[in-house]
Amino acid sequence: MKAQNPTKLIDRFGRKVDYLRISITDRCDFRCVYCMAEEMTFLPRQQILSLEEIFLLAKTFVELGVKKIRITGGEPLIRKGALELLQQIGALEGLRELVLTTNGSQLVTAAPILKTANLKRLNISLDTLDAAKFKAITRTGDLQTVLNGIDAAKKVGFERIKLNAVILKNRNHDEVGDLVQFAIDKEIDISFIEEMPLGIVEKHNRAEAYYSSDEIRADLESRFTLQKSADNTGGPSDYYVVPNTQTRVGFISPHSHNFCSTCNRVRLTVEGRLLLCLGNEHSIDLKAILRAPDFNADNLKQAIIDSMEIKPEKHEFNVKEQPIILRYMNMTGG
Ligand code: GTP
Ligand code: 5AD
Ligand code: SF4
Repeated sequence: MKAQNPTKLIDRFGRKVDYLRISITDRCDFRCVYCMAEEMTFLPRQQILSLEEIFLLAKTFVELGVKKIRITGGEPLIRKGALELLQQIGALEGLRELVLTTNGSQLVTAAPILKTANLKRLNISLDTLDAAKFKAITRTGDLQTVLNGIDAAKKVGFERIKLNAVILKNRNHDEVGDLVQFAIDKEIDISFIEEMPLGIVEKHNRAEAYYSSDEIRADLESRFTLQKSADNTGGPSDYYVVPNTQTRVGFISPHSHNFCSTCNRVRLTVEGRLLLCLGNEHSIDLKAILRAPDFNADNLKQAIIDSMEIKPEKHEFNVKEQPIILRYMNMTGG
């Protein structure tokens, strides 16, 4: 890989944007209660970016100085052609890191191919180790398939694997210790995430389900030693290490410890909308620019540079009120 350009993407608050998250599909084989409604209508094909369009945008962002790309969904690995797209993006000159967030359902077959895509790190969602609870939270998922997927990924050997656990009070908050022990046994990392109010999900009360990172950390400290770590993956996790293990424990705390002042990222939705913040609706329509009859690569670049002017200072989440963000998490992949 050749020397990297400094990013041309700098917002009004002086934050440098060098991390792009791309949701390559809104579809998913799971229906996690905090992410989707049980009955979802997904986008029709003509409304979503083609793989070629996604690649062109990824390349453009790298030319503008983006160093890290995370592929998300929905479940990214269920989109046909996803692995080839990852291989193409992974080969872009100037990109430091290609990473992926997945629910783990496809990893048994996909892991070896992912390894050939220059993929450095893998984040796998896992909220519980109890098969019945797993079914209840994901509505359609199967725990054993995901556990097999984690083992397959370990076998292939990525630089790091991280589990993501969204913690909900009275659902899985009593499992945080067991999840950390599982991560220690597998020699991988784990992040605990406070649920964010994106989209209205029936029969799920977010205020009641709120369990803060501080509560989780206090629970863990009765069983493990957690030492504050200076590690930073360029994401929102605040990391601790468990001494004498390979495991880092991260806390992603959009409610209790706002991390917006160091935000370095923007998101591309599968509809081709560039979202400047996960917790706000500020966006520009890159699909319209790509599909305009007079498409011009310089105009595309300029539009992306100009979009930095509307990147909001911070997200405003309130678990007690109806969400102001009506889009579901699967539109942005978190
Ligand atoms: P690393 O790059 O490895 O640090 O990954 P990550 O933890 O940032 O990414 P991942 O896709 O695993 O997301 C974990 C959680 O962090 C998800 O619930 C995301 O929604 C959340 N997250 C990531 N970036 C932001 C952000 O800018 N704002 C908020 N509110 N949440 C974010
Ligand atoms: N709040 C917090 N995290 C969420 N995720 C999905 N929906 C939400 C939500 N409402 C998580 C998934 C996955 C990551 C990309 O985002 O569990 O690990
Ligand atoms: Fe699918 Fe991830 Fe949403 Fe669960 S959180 S439904 S696995 S996209």
